[in-house]
Amino acid sequence: MAYIEVKHSYKRYHMGDTTIVANNDINFTVNRGELVVILGASGAGKSTMLNILGGMDTNDEGDVIIDGQNIAHESPRELTAYRRDDVGFVFQFYNLVENLTAKENVELASEIVNNAQDATQALKDVGLGDRINNFPSQLSGGEQQRVAIARAVAKNPKILLCDEPTGALDYATGKQVLQIIQDMSRQRGATVIIVTHNAAIASIADRVIHFRDAQVAGIDIHDQPADIADITW
Ligand SMILES: Nc1ncnc2c1ncn2[C@@H]1O[C@H](COP(=O)(O)OP(=O)(O)O)[C@@H](O)[C@H]1O
Ligand SMILES: [Mg+2]
Repeated sequence: MAYIEVKHSYKRYHMGDTTIVANNDINFTVNRGELVVILGASGAGKSTMLNILGGMDTNDEGDVIIDGQNIAHESPRELTAYRRDDVGFVFQFYNLVENLTAKENVELASEIVNNAQDATQALKDVGLGDRINNFPSQLSGGEQQRVAIARAVAKNPKILLCDEPTGALDYATGKQVLQIIQDMSRQRGATVIIVTHNAAIASIADRVIHFRDAQVAGIDIHDQPADIADITW
């Protein structure tokens, strides 16, 4: 059985008299250890799907099965435990706590789970061993995103979810950050899902899930994904 299975998933937002269907019968699977890109234009429903996969939002219909656990049928309490223990999240705008150091930001996540990685080691792994006592305002955008990645992976999550992780970064820094995310997948066997509107990034994925108008428009499998060094945009 697939590691992640989304079956006939729907999400609707009600705004006054109108209903926006953000996910309209979404179906896909992901295997354990895959690096997946969800690719699509703005408004296609990508973030909605990622938030549901991360237990930060719930769908209206359908199944969302992660490692045998159907998170679509869980209580808020179970969903909180799932979010805390099993999910690492990386956002476009880092979402670090400004008055905590890099190390404290990572500890914020690592201290709430069992079997977490040491915060200092997690920061060393993303190349920030000499910046552990810096505050976010003392770090560049790329460095802040690396802290956010360290925070996400220090929990040793089952799945690492990244929403437009290079969206706020310049080209070279964006590639560095992608490289770190790809290493997390390749070297640690983490199951990683990256949401992006940037088609160039899709070539590094094992599996590309194309989102269009709230639906899956197609799925590509890459037997030999590209190296980050070889892609341009
Ligand atoms: N909280 C919300 N309330 C109302 N509409 C929303 C909400 N979140 C997303 N939407 C709408 O759902 C659709 C899909 O949004 P989203 O998943 O953010 O797309 P993407 O990440 O692909 O840009 C859009 O039309 C968006 O306006
Ligand atoms: Mg989005």
